[in-house]
Amino acid sequence: MAAKTRIPKRRIIRKDDQRGLGIIQLEETDLETLNHLLRLEDDIFGDEAVDEWFMVSNIRHGNVMLLVDLVKRKPIGIAVLMRDWDDLKKCYLADFGIKETYRGKGFGTYFLGVVLEEVRQEGFKTISLTVDINNPVAIHLYEKHGFRIVEERHNLYGEGRHRYIMEKTL
Ligand SMILES: CC(C)(COP(=O)(O)OP(=O)(O)OC[C@H]1O[C@@H](n2cnc3c(N)ncnc32)[C@H](O)[C@@H]1OP(=O)(O)O)[C@@H](O)C(=O)NCCC(=O)NCCS
Repeated sequence: MAAKTRIPKRRIIRKDDQRGLGIIQLEETDLETLNHLLRLEDDIFGDEAVDEWFMVSNIRHGNVMLLVDLVKRKPIGIAVLMRDWDDLKKCYLADFGIKETYRGKGFGTYFLGVVLEEVRQEGFKTISLTVDINNPVAIHLYEKHGFRIVEERHNLYGEGRHRYIMEKTL
């Protein structure tokens, strides 16, 4: 018997018909959506893309938000958040990116603004992230949204992969 196709469970966070953009939080996934997300990850992060194991567990137990092109009905941006184990009022932005062909058009600024508003409303007091010290566009975006560099960690993700740790009080 053929598997039934169903729309994965999701929560609509924002719908902006004028800009043709939506932001959703995925609560469940199916194979088709998972494959879309893995392709999106690959487009955004290449070798550093999240794999299916991390993606599925984050959808089910963490928080995966998508920026969706409502006209093409495709995800064009992703934000993955996790709650800090030691400090329940702190969250960590583990993954944030916009599909390559959509960059430089203000989508990252818009999406990050909504993500931050969302976590603030959830009651989080602090948010942190790590960013490649050689990624000036992302650092600028985060600073524009009030993140500050609190630490520089060398070889955090392997030899030569240095990162800034950035934090923002919500
Ligand atoms: C970082 C990223 C999310 C920014 O998304 P985006 O949609 O391109 O960002 P925006 O269009 O909203 O631009 C944000 C700011 O960066 C600037 N910017 C965007 N692209 C730029 C570029 N190629 N060169 C210089 N500045 C650039 C914009 O001018 C804007 O600054 P301003 O508001 O002061 O004018 C996106 O480039 C991306 O997904 N990169 C790959 C993944 C990544 O590095 N993620 C961060 C991991 S920590």
